[in-house]
Amino acid sequence: MHWDENVHKIWEDIRSLKKKRNAVILAHYYQKPEIQEIADYVGDSLELARKAAGTSADVIVFCGVHFMAESAAILSPDKTVLLPVKESGCAMADMVTVEALKARKKELTNPVVVTYVNSSAEVKAESDICCTSANAVKIVKSIPEDKDILFVPDKNLGHYAAKQAKRELVLWEGYCPVHDEVKVEDVIRAKEEHPQAELIVHPECRPEVVDMADFVSSTSGLLRYAKESNAKEFIVGTEEGILHQLKKQNPGKKFYILEKEKLVCRDMKYTILPKLKEALENMNPQVTVPAEVRERALKCLQRMLDVK
Ligand code: 13P
Ligand code: SF4
Repeated sequence: MHWDENVHKIWEDIRSLKKKRNAVILAHYYQKPEIQEIADYVGDSLELARKAAGTSADVIVFCGVHFMAESAAILSPDKTVLLPVKESGCAMADMVTVEALKARKKELTNPVVVTYVNSSAEVKAESDICCTSANAVKIVKSIPEDKDILFVPDKNLGHYAAKQAKRELVLWEGYCPVHDEVKVEDVIRAKEEHPQAELIVHPECRPEVVDMADFVSSTSGLLRYAKESNAKEFIVGTEEGILHQLKKQNPGKKFYILEKEKLVCRDMKYTILPKLKEALENMNPQVTVPAEVRERALKCLQRMLDVK
């Protein structure tokens, strides 16, 4: 990939600010390519949470969305956590409030609440254990068989985890508006256009789309699979930012995004290089979590990280 002079210049500025602040830059696979390229680590939600928990840097710059930066602040309370654009949210995370969760828990008999990391700190604080798309099946399997499980907030990931773990789950009515937009007709069309390609999708997609896939996994899992598979072409059912690493890691293979118009998360694209630079210059916007919420949310995240 060729980068123009201006990009190189701003990367240089960011590198020197990073040094000055003793900062680490974490970026999700859905970020823009020029952000992924300047990051110290690019990863899926689980990998980035682990990095945030283990870093020795003083400042964590989270190039992603708010719940990710919040998780970093929960896991590393003594660090300054920056989110370059404070409006970078997650529509799925907004589909569950702490009041609604409390009410639902009351309706059910003492359920174990498994909460996807795509949720607010307050919702995590009201939950028992977190999961990401990379470990949802394993987390569900770790809950004793005699317990009822309420899975929050992604019904699509919950459906996938239930099927894989062979457990019945009570599902929250939430979903990712980006992945959920992809329909069976889109898959049929893409398969007709690329008959040789394997279909690889994220479990945030609808169950009927997931059922049509050759492989289903978190973003990191999809990257691993594309590398190891003998196939030369892939239809990719997740946010288009992942194409950058897929192409970079597999120069001889071809990747087609399942639905170009649909698989773009607007919030993930708010982070642009000037905003990243500004955040390091001004040490702002910072993401913090009140101590009382943090303590309870930390238990929920830590239980997830402790599941081996
Ligand atoms: P992961 O594959 O990183 O778990 O991500 C899904 C996602 O939607 C992040 O917003
Ligand atoms: Fe949220 Fe979906 Fe965007 Fe991920 S892709 S941040 S789940 S809206």
